[in-house]
Amino acid sequence: PLVSMTEMLEKAKAGKYAVGQFNINNLEYTQAILQAAEEEKSPVILGVSEGAARYMGGFKLVTAMVKALMEEYKITVPVAIHLDHGSSFESCARAIHAGFTSVMIDASHHPFEENIQITSKVVELAHLHGISVEAELGTVGGQEDDVVGEGIIYADPNECVELVNRTGIDALAPALGSVHGPYHGEPNLGFKEMEEIAKLTGKPLVLHGGTGIPTHDIQKAISLGTAKINVNTENQIASAKTVREVLAKNADLYDPRKYLGPARETIKDTVKGKMKEFGSVGKA
Ligand code: G3H
Ligand code: ZN
Repeated sequence: PLVSMTEMLEKAKAGKYAVGQFNINNLEYTQAILQAAEEEKSPVILGVSEGAARYMGGFKLVTAMVKALMEEYKITVPVAIHLDHGSSFESCARAIHAGFTSVMIDASHHPFEENIQITSKVVELAHLHGISVEAELGTVGGQEDDVVGEGIIYADPNECVELVNRTGIDALAPALGSVHGPYHGEPNLGFKEMEEIAKLTGKPLVLHGGTGIPTHDIQKAISLGTAKINVNTENQIASAKTVREVLAKNADLYDPRKYLGPARETIKDTVKGKMKEFGSVGKA
């Protein structure tokens, strides 16, 4: 069923595993991720960035596509359609009205008080509709679509507590050294802060920039209260590699099904691998 992420993440936090957010870009990504989740009996979050939604034809088209596929595949596992890095109240409101079951309001680049104001407004609307809200503090490094992190800024634990208490969000993404896109060298995650923030807020924590984080860091993050891990670039790199290989091997190939089909299989395998790593297999 299509659900918000609130219950999924509370269960994950209590059970010491994490639910993967996998970003979708088109039909094949959505097929691959839904099939992987159903076959692995894992809850799943479909991440939709504003840029990806634009590319696919808008929020309404995205929800229609996801709902149709869920019906076609007879999906039994919990699935959330989540706006990734929502840039404004308006954007979150449009996603909610289009049928998204979860939104992230990313007002982390605004001054703290403004972040609280915007996030509170989103929570008020979202909770009226039974929709979950994720908010961010600090700055994730690297770049993803329209979101450009200007250097890494670690979230401040005291601000995290205040944000959670004053806004009523369901999940918190404290930036603690992770990066969107590939890492240059090993990430330096702020585990001390992560532990403190999880304890002080009591909320499931979200780890952005899941691509390229070593397994021991993933496990440590989960043990400290991380209940959602976002993965985008890893599927993109893996599926692009498959497309390159298929086209390089067959110079005469032009039928999109012959290179997007194999790319879809690669995404499915990659997602299943992540679900195993995050411990969400069999948790649906
Ligand atoms: O919001 C999406 C993620 O944080 C994805 O990060 O592309 O580094 O896996 P990634
Ligand atoms: Zn992110």
